[in-house]
Amino acid sequence: MPLVTSTEMFKKAYEGGYAVGAFNVNNMEIIQGITEAAAQEKAPLILQVSAGARKYAKHVYLMKLVEAAVEDTGLPICLHLDHGDSFEICKSCIDGGFTSVMIDGSKYSFEENVALTRKVVEYAHSKGIVVEGELGRLAGVEDEVKVSAADSSYTDPAQVEEFVTRTGVDSLAIAIGTSHGAYKFKPGTKPQLRFDILEEVGKRLPGFPIVLHGASSVMQEYVAIVNQFGGKMPGAIGVPEEMLRKASEMAVCKINIDSDLRLAMTASVRKHLAENPEHFDPRQYLTPARDAIREVVAHKMRNVLGCSGKA
Ligand code: G3H
Ligand code: 13P
Ligand code: ZN
Repeated sequence: MPLVTSTEMFKKAYEGGYAVGAFNVNNMEIIQGITEAAAQEKAPLILQVSAGARKYAKHVYLMKLVEAAVEDTGLPICLHLDHGDSFEICKSCIDGGFTSVMIDGSKYSFEENVALTRKVVEYAHSKGIVVEGELGRLAGVEDEVKVSAADSSYTDPAQVEEFVTRTGVDSLAIAIGTSHGAYKFKPGTKPQLRFDILEEVGKRLPGFPIVLHGASSVMQEYVAIVNQFGGKMPGAIGVPEEMLRKASEMAVCKINIDSDLRLAMTASVRKHLAENPEHFDPRQYLTPARDAIREVVAHKMRNVLGCSGKA
């Protein structure tokens, strides 16, 4: 089974009222934990790689590890570039075997975003690869770039049809109040998302797959473990899972999760080393860390995204 695009996955997800999980990968244990969960849950899967992940692990290592996961599990997997910020990085990933790329022109003007996205779409489609675009800007931290709440902006539903028509994108990420990282809402305030924007976008683009970034719930059981074993993450708050469930039943077909995996892995390593101070073999602490990733991903698929059994 070769790597696949997300076209069929999104069609089924839209019709079935669920979302496909897109999980960020940076190393072997993360890839194994996620793909073991997908195999166990018989779930469709998108693995995504950021520019930072490519810099950390090198494109070729991640590519070969994902190919190994496809061979090992027999799963149809889509391999996606997360937050490509230039034509060059998108082209490099397309030429290097990815089946999907995101061109994130959200920091540019509407016209510049359209022009850049269109250029990527033309190249990608000529190679049979799909493209995710973005309209509106999320707050939070990605790849050392911090977008303040003041610089973030909700997606304007009045622009989505023109953007999709002029660019030819295959899916669209929108900003409805989620943000990247582990600190999404002010402690003590009630997390809120602009479901009215999602609903309006859905009406204007019937049948078209919408993507939600910044969708980690920042699971409090793992925050508690981190804080118990020497970490400091006070006030780490994410998107309530019931809101993600609701979005999955609407037009959202792809939900991006990274921070929850980082948190589960770090909590596991901190706990293991605190309880086993004599351990120094990485396999001793990376085995439970990989298990923690598998458990979180299986939970998301089954109880949040609704994609278990849909592969
Ligand atoms: O959206 C950002 C993802 O969490 C990837 O993060 O750029 O630090 O690899 P990264
Ligand atoms: P989180 O930081 O909420 O996991 O978001 C990840 C993401 O959007 C990757 O593109
Ligand atoms: Zn993102």
